[in-house]
Amino acid sequence: MSTPPRVAAVHVLERVLERGETLDEALEGQFTRVAERDRPLLQALVYGALRWLTRLEAQVATLTPRDDWRRDPLLRALLVLGAWEAQGLATPAHAAVSESVDAARRLRRARAAGMVNAVLRKLHKATPPLPTDEATRYALPGWLAEHLRGAWPEDWPAVAEAGNAHPPMTLRVDRARIPRPACLEALAERGVAAQPGAVAPTAVILDDPVPVARLPGFAEGWLSVQDEAAQLAAPLLDPQPGDRVLDACAAPGGKTVHLLEHAPAATVTALDRSARRLRQVRDNLARAGHEAHCVAADAANPDAWWDGEPFQRILLDAPCTGSGVIRRHPDIKWLRRADDPARMAPAQRQLLDTLWRVLAPGGRLVYATCSIFPEENEAVVAGFLAEQPDASRGPLPAVGRRTGAGCQILPGEQGMDGFFYACLERSVE
Ligand SMILES: C[S@@+](CC[C@H](N)C(=O)[O-])C[C@H]1O[C@@H](n2cnc3c(N)ncnc32)[C@H](O)[C@@H]1O
Repeated sequence: MSTPPRVAAVHVLERVLERGETLDEALEGQFTRVAERDRPLLQALVYGALRWLTRLEAQVATLTPRDDWRRDPLLRALLVLGAWEAQGLATPAHAAVSESVDAARRLRRARAAGMVNAVLRKLHKATPPLPTDEATRYALPGWLAEHLRGAWPEDWPAVAEAGNAHPPMTLRVDRARIPRPACLEALAERGVAAQPGAVAPTAVILDDPVPVARLPGFAEGWLSVQDEAAQLAAPLLDPQPGDRVLDACAAPGGKTVHLLEHAPAATVTALDRSARRLRQVRDNLARAGHEAHCVAADAANPDAWWDGEPFQRILLDAPCTGSGVIRRHPDIKWLRRADDPARMAPAQRQLLDTLWRVLAPGGRLVYATCSIFPEENEAVVAGFLAEQPDASRGPLPAVGRRTGAGCQILPGEQGMDGFFYACLERSVE
């Protein structure tokens, strides 16, 4: 028998908030237990609840004198999900409340069923006032609100709002196989309304998300799902025919495939520390009909994977806090900790230093993150440039804002995810 979607949603939230699993991992564990027709509801519930978590909790708190629910992870999750359903989804009130009360019983919280019923009924009747402090209103943990304010004193409210917005579904078109106007026509014929991206010549933005199975040419690899900001990496690296190209942190392989679409005659090595995630790179390559040498290894230890032949182009899409992609992964707000940006920077710098040694003289390395914290971005690159006499700044995309030697795109800017790019060129000896 399948699990009711609200019960599954409670388990997903509990796994993220109590056990530190990512939303993707937690959802993967519950998705197949829920009937297919209920899966969109499961998704809408958990994404909304994680987007607005502390704001929803503050609203629940105004409706009950009790606070023991905060100490019971399952009850807390059930109330937060119910609060989101009352405000953000179109479920009729009686159905939403009775299903949540039923979920309380299934979760062995029968003694709290009366309280769940009373709180959710009130929520469906009227929206409680919004919290007055900014961090709770934007549903940010305090440290993150402070960090954003410190990094972007003028822009941080817009950044916080962009993090809570629904991101567009954006596609990348392989223009060698179908020109973008023809792709837009093919989508329109299938009833999928879409617009060309304003920044990347390969980008197509759907008016509304659709399952990839509805996309013409998806199975054949003409189209891939990728945010427009991420589509700037391959043209910036600009591999040439015959180049040896290293994609050092490749999984799940969105940029690996784009590199090969951009330069089919390049030889690409796709490296990732995670063998499990590297399988996604292989799957994406197979779908698109491209080939790369896929290696599961630590990029910071070239002895384990490098044959001694230098690379003309290296993409370092470094592991980061993901602070620029919160709108796609709202769990990031609750999984990261205050010291993460400073903690990640030395590892990012080490990857940059190490990979510089395998770059050919005259070669180009693009350093990218999906973070908007300066510690992980311009500070890493500035420290590197100060100590690397054979490194100089290369060209940058004509978007975002210049920060040190890089280019920072803030989330929501021209509809894109938050992204940082720096382009580093090695002098010819
Ligand atoms: C930001 S994601 C890369 C996204 C990818 N470039 C794309 O466009 O699809 C970072 C990746 O780096 C990998 N990673 C982290 N540390 C690594 C290391 N030391 N060596 C190799 N891969 C690493 C992670 O497993 C993760 O898959």
